[in-house]
Formats: sequence, structure tokens, C-alpha cells
Amino acid sequence: MVFLPQCHSTNDELVQMTRKSNEPEGTLVYTDDQQMGKGQRGNAWITEPGKNILMSVLLRPNFLSPSNQFYLNLISGLAIVDTLKSHVTSEVLLKWPNDVFINGNKISGVLIENNLRGNRLESAVVGIGINVNQQGFRINTATSLVMETNIEFDRNELIETLLCRLEKWYLQLKNGSTTYILDEYHKLLMWRGEVKIFKSKNEEFEGEIVGIDQHGKLAINQDGNLRTFGIKEVEFMR
Ligand code: BTN
Repeated sequence: MVFLPQCHSTNDELVQMTRKSNEPEGTLVYTDDQQMGKGQRGNAWITEPGKNILMSVLLRPNFLSPSNQFYLNLISGLAIVDTLKSHVTSEVLLKWPNDVFINGNKISGVLIENNLRGNRLESAVVGIGINVNQQGFRINTATSLVMETNIEFDRNELIETLLCRLEKWYLQLKNGSTTYILDEYHKLLMWRGEVKIFKSKNEEFEGEIVGIDQHGKLAINQDGNLRTFGIKEVEFMR
């Protein structure tokens, strides 16, 4: 377990540590202040110092084939929901692939960096950001635990709970309970069964979110045709 008062990105720190030495599964890097936090799709993850959870955990999922690596996204999202739901009265939902939303606003995001060796996952750095005690964000679709509850939280206690939940879901995955994981993920999938506007390759279209397929792709029903999209292939418009 490594606490850094400040760093560029806990994901970058843990990736580097893992390259240099044989860090064990479960190694945690967390910080108070990230200067170059990374989000999905090349976005930055910017939050106020000392207020939020910014952490990365090392997994060594060598039992998982690369085509099943998306399960790491699912279990991370499920672990975050488990951690947050006991502290808020509103529903905590997952927006595909694993953004965590409360009342239509984003409270947490996950960035996983996988390292493949041959046909196996040698290591995965699971980077998690959770907005905890920050009041107000530059983006008005972001929220935090304090904004939802008016209560300030002990970040270390939340990290401990999150690690327990992550271990629980990781063991489910290791035991092969993929159907159960998919079912639980689908129960929490935001906008499932709803019609939304999407954009893919400059084409805007309307479709109903059906769920995710066996490759973790988002399945959308467009006028009776089932289309599936990877993370970089589709955007939610409204
Ligand atoms: C997203 O929703 O775009 C993913 C955000 C992931 C942010 C976390 S904060 C800790 C870890 N280190 C990073 O640089 N990013 C992740």
C-alpha cells in the first residue's frame, strides 16, 4: 500500500512500479492530489486536492482471456455501487461501461490499464476516482457524496470498504460466475430499455439500450436491428 500526498496519476505510478518490480496482486496506490489524472477516452480527471478518492489497485487476472477483460470493468463498477449504495438514499446506477451515476450525475469513474503477455492478462491496473467531499465541479453533471448527502465522509474508511467489495467481485469472477456478474450488471445498467440518441462515426441515430453482449459491447436495438458497439465506437448524445 503506497500513499502519495501528490502525484501525476495513481495509474501511471502503479504501472511504473509494476514494471520495475514484481508487485503483488492487491497493491494499492492512492493520493490526495493528482496533477494529471487520466479519464476514459483520453479525457483528464480533474478534482480538488484532499477531497476525493483517487486510487489504483493491481490485479493479476491471469485466469482471464483477453476477450474477457471487460469483466474487470463490470466488477469494478459493481464494487463501487456496493460501496456507495449504503451511504445514499437515491439509486446508484452504472452507465455503460462503468461510470457510476446518482440522480443523473456522475460520481465515479474507472480507468483500467491492462498488460497482456501472449494470450493472458499479466496485470491490470484498476484506477478508480470517486467524488467524496468536493462541493461543486466545473462540469455541472458531476456530483459527490457530500453533495448528495450533506455529510462529509472518511475517505480511508470508504477505500477499505471498496477494497473488500472489489475482492468479493473479483473472487466471483475467478470462480467463473460470469452469468451472475452479467445479471447483476444488467440490473444496474442505466437507461436499459430506454430509447436514446447515439452517435457513431458521425451518424446520429435513435435506439433502445438492450444491454451488453458477450464481449462487453453495448447492444442497441435500432428499428429491430441489434447493433453492438465498443467503447470508442459510440457516444451517448441525449
Ligand atoms: C473516467 O470516468 O473517465 C475514468 C476516471 C478514472 C479516474 C481515476 S482517478 C485514479 C486513477 N488514476 C488516474 O489517472 N485515473 C484513475
